[in-house]
Amino acid sequence: MMDLQGERVVVLGGTSGIGLATAVAAAEHGAEVTVVSSNRVKVEHALRTLPPGSRGHAVDLTDTAQVRALFDSVGAIDHLVFTAGELLTLMPLDTLDLDMAKDFFALRYFGALGSVQIAAPHIRPGGSITLTTGTAKDRPGPGWSVAASICGAIDALTRALAVELAPIRVNAVCPGVVRSPLWDSMTEGDREQLYKDTAAAVPLGRVGEVTDIAQAYLYYLTESFATGSVLTLDGGTVLA
Ligand SMILES: NC(=O)c1ccc[n+]([C@@H]2O[C@H](COP(=O)([O-])OP(=O)(O)OC[C@H]3O[C@@H](n4cnc5c(N)ncnc54)[C@H](OP(=O)(O)O)[C@@H]3O)[C@@H](O)[C@H]2O)c1
Repeated sequence: MMDLQGERVVVLGGTSGIGLATAVAAAEHGAEVTVVSSNRVKVEHALRTLPPGSRGHAVDLTDTAQVRALFDSVGAIDHLVFTAGELLTLMPLDTLDLDMAKDFFALRYFGALGSVQIAAPHIRPGGSITLTTGTAKDRPGPGWSVAASICGAIDALTRALAVELAPIRVNAVCPGVVRSPLWDSMTEGDREQLYKDTAAAVPLGRVGEVTDIAQAYLYYLTESFATGSVLTLDGGTVLA
C-alpha cells in the first residue's frame, strides 16, 4: 500500500527530528529523498543516516532567493514535506517582544508559504504537499500565544492551498509533544520534566516519538483522496 518506489520526496527541515524520521521512512518505502535545512553539518549528518543516493542541501528557508535556487536545482518532484522550525521559545505576554514574535512567523509560516509557492510548479501529477501544525492551537498554555497562532495559521493555510492547488493534495500533520531536538533550548532537567508531566496528563500516558509522527506524513504521501485535512497524533492531548 505504502509504495513510494521511484517517487521524489523533498523534506524541508528533514535533517532532524520529525523531518528526518519522515525522510528515513519515505526512503524505506522506496522514495528518492532530498533533505534540506540551514546547517550544512546537520545536512551531512542526515545523509549518513539516509540510504546512498539520498540528497541534501543547506538552505535557509526564510531566504526566498535560496529557496528558488534550491528548486531550480532539484527539478521535478512528487511530494513536498515541510517540517522546518527553529528551537521553541515560549513568550509570556507580559515580556513578549513583538519583533521576536514577528520573526517567529518568518520560518514556520512565511517559510512554509514561500516554499510552497516556489515548489508547487515542480510537483508532478498525483503529487502532494504536507505541512506541519501542532496541538498548541487547540490546547495552548501560558506563553504559547505566538506558537499557537502559527499553528492556527498553518491549518487555515492548508485548507486554502488545498483549494487553490488542486489536484495537488495539501494536508497537515498535527503532533502533540514529541521527544525531539526541538526542545534543546531547555535544560535537560526541564525537558525531561516536560516529557514526564505531558505523559502523566495525556490518555496514552507517553509523549510522541518522531517515528510515530513520521507515519502520518507517510500516510499523506501515499494515499490519494485526502486534501485540506489535518491528522492529529498527540496521544489524546486535545482530550485531556
Ligand atoms: N517536537 C514537538 O514536540 C513538536 C510538536 C508539535 C509540532 N512540532 C513542529 O514540528 C516541526 C518539526 O519539529 P521537530 O521536533 O522535528 O524539530 P527539530 O528536530 O528541531 O527539526 C527542525 C528542523 O528545521 C530545520 N530548520 C530550522 N531553521 C531552519 C531554517 N531557517 N531553514 C531551513 N531549515 C531550518 C532544522 O535544521 P537546521 O538547524 O540545520 O536549519 C531541523 O532540520 C516544527 O515545525 C515544530 O514546530 C513539533
